[in-house]
Amino acid sequence: MSLYGHLQERRPDEKPVTISTLARMRAESVPIACITAYDASFGNLVDIAGVDVVLVGDSLGMAIQGHSTTVPVSMDAMVYHARCVSRGLQRPLLIADMPFASYALPEMAFNNAARLMQEGGAQMVKLEGGMVQVRTVEFLSTRDIPVCAHIGLTPQSVHKLGGFKVQGRETGAAERMVDEAKALEEAGADIVLLECVPSDVGAAVRAAVDVPVIGIGAGPKVDGQILVLYDIIGLTSGRKPRFVRDYSVETQNPLQAVQAYVASVKDGSYPAPEHCFS
Ligand code: KIV
Repeated sequence: MSLYGHLQERRPDEKPVTISTLARMRAESVPIACITAYDASFGNLVDIAGVDVVLVGDSLGMAIQGHSTTVPVSMDAMVYHARCVSRGLQRPLLIADMPFASYALPEMAFNNAARLMQEGGAQMVKLEGGMVQVRTVEFLSTRDIPVCAHIGLTPQSVHKLGGFKVQGRETGAAERMVDEAKALEEAGADIVLLECVPSDVGAAVRAAVDVPVIGIGAGPKVDGQILVLYDIIGLTSGRKPRFVRDYSVETQNPLQAVQAYVASVKDGSYPAPEHCFS
């Protein structure tokens, strides 16, 4: 057996995760464990560790390419990394990020989303933004492109927001976010991803929609959690956001770290109060 033979084993009995699986998990209150990956080896590892959803995030601009924001990430880079990750996966659903400026108009979004699915092997695309994206989400969704709508802190807007800041704290902001989630669901979004908001805003958005809500820094009362792979296996240096938990400090290797993350999402011990915003 080769060095990585255990990671390359086929597991034909395991059913792939689909949007129907995620809808069922939400209905049955089974927490959805999601994580980012950027290459085939880690794709394979997080699959073996039991994650349900893998996101090829444009966070690769920071984690892989060394940029200080996600803004410089290109479509070609996203397609390349999605293709790499898709070769490593068997069970998880694969979502790929639409990078900055790749979905400003519906037709443009369709052409780029189709590339992520046809060339990159993605089964869903993620795009950032609230009301402004409703028309685009509808355009994609009615053309058979599954969509994850990312609201709350939208990192591609960093230069407009003036930094990476908790969202939804100002008067009326929580209500606006709930309205955005409802409008995006109505337009056909299959998942809402909610980043960096107080836990009660996470709970309010979750209660307002019927599709799965995945949180990152959105508290415990959502349907699933997502973290950046490199943050949880101890590969990120410098100051980390409050919601990050580094599982490498309590485990022996990256596979164990991701397994510990999955277990903590499933048993509800992550996120703990120290990972949440109020
Ligand atoms: O790009 C990314 O990795 C993301 C997650 C942090 C949600 O959008």
